[in-house]
Amino acid sequence: MQLPLNFYSTQCKDNCKRCRPFVLFQQCIVYITNVSTSSFVLFLLIFSLCYVVYEVKYKTGIEIFPFIPIDDSGFEEYSEKLLSTVRSSLAAKNQDKSGSLLCWVMTTSIYHKTRVQAINETWFNKCDASHLLTNNGRFLNIHSSFHTVFHNLPESYFKLFWKTRLALYFLYNNVSSEFDWYFKADDDTYVIVENLRRYLSKFDPNEPHFIGYRLRRRMPENGYNAGGSGYVLSRAAMRMFATQLFHDKELCPYHEWEDYAVARCLSSLNIYPKDTRDEQGRQRFLPWRPEQHYHADLTRSFIMDPVDKWGISVFHENLISMHHLNPDEIRLIHGMLYGVAQGIWKDKVKQV
Ligand SMILES: *[C@@H]1O[C@H](CO)[C@@H](O)[C@H](O)[C@H]1NC(C)=O
Ligand SMILES: *[C@@H]1O[C@H](CO)[C@@H](O)[C@H](O)[C@H]1NC(C)=O
Repeated sequence: MQLPLNFYSTQCKDNCKRCRPFVLFQQCIVYITNVSTSSFVLFLLIFSLCYVVYEVKYKTGIEIFPFIPIDDSGFEEYSEKLLSTVRSSLAAKNQDKSGSLLCWVMTTSIYHKTRVQAINETWFNKCDASHLLTNNGRFLNIHSSFHTVFHNLPESYFKLFWKTRLALYFLYNNVSSEFDWYFKADDDTYVIVENLRRYLSKFDPNEPHFIGYRLRRRMPENGYNAGGSGYVLSRAAMRMFATQLFHDKELCPYHEWEDYAVARCLSSLNIYPKDTRDEQGRQRFLPWRPEQHYHADLTRSFIMDPVDKWGISVFHENLISMHHLNPDEIRLIHGMLYGVAQGIWKDKVKQV
């Protein structure tokens, strides 16, 4: 039934106080967009359906529309020729050129004022060199170490692999090839850098290593490292990537899941992730939210290593990273670790 336009306008104006919010909202939308009630309901239905489909696909990994092709072009377009116009900040140029641990974070200008501030205030500068790779210099000053590597790459989930591919090449080729370890994290990751260093000291950087939280989905045999909780490539692995993989479309093909694609590319040269749990079977890198690990509320189809440790043992002395944190959670964790804990340990020392 199509009601006259002015019916809704009168309703909206006169009945605001008496209308229940949803009814009012619906009537106002109907009035503003000049569509019938049934179209509005249809829109809501389609929207809800899309949402459910998205949730199912994201949470379970079931491919609901495998027949919709994804644009996988970009091998030639997003190549090293983009690197001649990259701008690097003064702080980036002043970072150490060699050392043990180089940390890099992939971000975008949307998060410069929020997430980037938080990591830059906390763990990021504890590495021997720290590099933000982003699309432009908005809200950043010369004292922040950044490179505009992604200035010609579109902001899209489906372009993530091209970003990482270019980033790894840029770091090794243009920044430095003389670090032992290259650690990648997201801008919503917290990293306990001391624990990362201690763990890496067990391995030889001249051998190809690929270290992080191992997932299994689509790579059931060897697995791949989750992107969000961070992963490390040894100098040898970086060299193999930059010299043998970057320029080879067959060995290093596109996939829309960026972390999976990186692992598939490295696996072409037999570089595989390893089981990084500690001797008590506790995970060092946590890719889901901390409370999901705590409650063992994890997406089973992704999991490679058994989940037999949860509850408070998720937070243990060998923990390296946590993911999906908001900026204030990052500051809170940092404050607890380096501020509050100091006082606790001091008292312990006094008492003995
Ligand atoms: C990076 O290195 C390539 C050569 O490998 C060069 O063409 C490009 O200009 C360099 N870019 C920067 C920003 O140093
Ligand atoms: C990042 O940290 C550096 C050094 O502590 C500081 O000078 C710079 O202003 C910070 N940048 C941002 C964006 O917070």
